[in-house]
Amino acid sequence: MNHIVVKNYEDMSKQAAVIIASQILRKKNAIMGFATGSTPIGTYQELIRLYKEGILDFSAITSFNLDEYYGVPVTDTNSYRYFMEENLFSHVNIRKDATFVPSGMASDAQAECDRYEEMIQQAGGVDLQLLGIGHNGHIGFNEPDSHFPARTHLVELAQSTIEANARFYKTRDEVPKKAVTMGIGTIMKAKSVLLLAGGKDKADIVEKTIKGPITPAVPASILQLHQDVTIIQVL
Ligand code: F6R
Repeated sequence: MNHIVVKNYEDMSKQAAVIIASQILRKKNAIMGFATGSTPIGTYQELIRLYKEGILDFSAITSFNLDEYYGVPVTDTNSYRYFMEENLFSHVNIRKDATFVPSGMASDAQAECDRYEEMIQQAGGVDLQLLGIGHNGHIGFNEPDSHFPARTHLVELAQSTIEANARFYKTRDEVPKKAVTMGIGTIMKAKSVLLLAGGKDKADIVEKTIKGPITPAVPASILQLHQDVTIIQVL
């Protein structure tokens, strides 16, 4: 693992954007794996800046997002599709039909998960997967469990995740309790992984991810077995 410690959020965002930009510059039609959450917002702002300065061209890339809340329509401002439109897609020249976020509204969730997994493999697999990390070590919405889920699947969100997400809602009852997420196997198939962790409150889980035992109780610990992982951490 390549572990980079930076001073502040701005440095993390700049360094992450450089890694993503160099992937797109090396491979114009890269398959990108994107994440939502607070952590990558600054990185997306940097990528938008590089696009506006004429340095980056998104027109040939394809993107697959890690996850989406279940039962939340794309028009909902809390949906991850909405987040991606707001924070990246609508500001750059990415082709809308080349951006994929799992549907949280499919009546047959399993069929949607299988379709999403298949689409990623059909596209040739993800070149660079961007990740955040939950306080409990989740990546995507793969919560601590007794096994590492292989494929895209429907999950019940952990209580701690629901509590962390409550900051975006007026009442706790409104916070989604389920999500569709890429599996650990899906994430591990990405050629490169870039994990961003901001703040002292994530220091303990980053330590466990890097140095602790590889266990589904800390889902991110599986990344120790990936051959190309960069972690950028703000301390
Ligand atoms: C988001 C995702 C989650 C977040 C994680 C950290 O698509 O899959 O794993 O990356 O919950 O969220 P923030 O960045 O808000 O601390």
